[in-house]
Amino acid sequence: MDTIIIRGGKPLHGTVKISGAKNAALPILAATLLVAGTHIVRNVPDLRDTRTMLQLLETLGATHRREGTTVYVDTCELSGAEAPYELVKTMRASVLVLGPLLTRAGYARVSLPGGCAIGARPINYHLKGFEQLGVRTILAQGYVEARCKDVLTGSTVYFDTPTVTGTENLLMASVMATGTTIIKNAAREPEVGNLVDMLMTMGADIEGKDTDRLTVHGVRSLQPATIDIIPDRIETGTYLIAVAATGGRVRVEQCNPTHLPALTEKLRSAGIAVEEEEGAFTVSCSEQVERNQCRLRSVDVKTLVYPGFPTDLQAQFMALVIQAEGTSIIHETIFENRFMHVAELQRLGADITIDGASAVVRGISLEKICGAPVMATDLRASASLVIAGLVASGITEISRIYHLERGYENMIEKLQALGADIHRSSSTIV
Ligand code: EPU
Repeated sequence: MDTIIIRGGKPLHGTVKISGAKNAALPILAATLLVAGTHIVRNVPDLRDTRTMLQLLETLGATHRREGTTVYVDTCELSGAEAPYELVKTMRASVLVLGPLLTRAGYARVSLPGGCAIGARPINYHLKGFEQLGVRTILAQGYVEARCKDVLTGSTVYFDTPTVTGTENLLMASVMATGTTIIKNAAREPEVGNLVDMLMTMGADIEGKDTDRLTVHGVRSLQPATIDIIPDRIETGTYLIAVAATGGRVRVEQCNPTHLPALTEKLRSAGIAVEEEEGAFTVSCSEQVERNQCRLRSVDVKTLVYPGFPTDLQAQFMALVIQAEGTSIIHETIFENRFMHVAELQRLGADITIDGASAVVRGISLEKICGAPVMATDLRASASLVIAGLVASGITEISRIYHLERGYENMIEKLQALGADIHRSSSTIV
């Protein structure tokens, strides 16, 4: 099995370009099912997850071709309405075909995703929302079967907790429903806004973009869209944290600094200089930190829905503060099991104690962080281990790197270009 080998201790310097957002590309690719025709989706990252979504679209009868970062999806002929277990088990976001298939075909059969490394992650809010639009759902043999009684009917849907893919699924189910649908307590993540943009380009009538109340006036027809995927804010944040952890100075280009308000604030509190301009960040350690005259400062973090601190950057931020002066409390509020990286960071020497939904990180000096073999458990945990490996002295070998390939485009090559000593290996170190 392939591993990533990192010889840590080198500061990062140079420029890195951010790819399109995985979590915007997935719902937007699913939305191409809404109406027959050729959709043009630009800035699509080439990742394991986007390939899985394209494979799922093919099992439903769509075809596609990729030219660079542009993907042309032809949804003229659909031949099925089922997302099989084999695909859903590799990518939970497969449930995003439920909403568009209900609109297009009035029926969908999608395997229930089951649990995942970071939590139970049920889809009960998606199903309750569909039912309020007049959909009947049945669970049988591990599949959800959803069928419109007659037509989808506009309604008011309230989410107990803002759900990102739930909001996206309901948007796609309501764009052609009769009457008006109001989604209350909707997710405000920029990826939802990107989907709203695509749906409006297709002819949908939606008010309240980027707010927690979305009003969808059903329209009679839609047309194929051309849409740009927004830059990946989680990839952006991961590079900002990596530079903060290793030292050096990097310009992060093709990103949207306005999408990371909480992270930039926390990095500044830790003693990192973060300069923002349109489409780019420049990140560097303060001069004192760089000259080893002082250490990074500890910072407390609580994950929240957007615009709060993203749960998808919690593991990476923890890899930063293991070397800070003092104690940082990292509180996870979105997923119940998102501390799988803690045991692996401890193998590198980190001093972390888990107390319920909080991790207490007592900073240690850089010399005490030493490379070791570690195992990736999920996508963002893998990124956290890469950052810790870049910091640690000696060699860190990360196994189960397929998690990383689900969501980071060319991460090894991008880090190499910034001067990191990192490579992929097909054999283990002796
Ligand atoms: N929830 C329910 N029932 C539901 C839906 C959600 O209880 O029907 C709970 C979840 O268990 C969780 C909370 O509500 O505790 C919020 O989950 P949400 O539905 O927002 O998560 P998601 O839509 O499944 C997306 C991203 C995740 C990201 C979360 C939170 C995609 C494809 N996935 O998941 O991304 O962590 O929002 O921001 O957009 C990742 O990229 O590594 C990743 C896990």
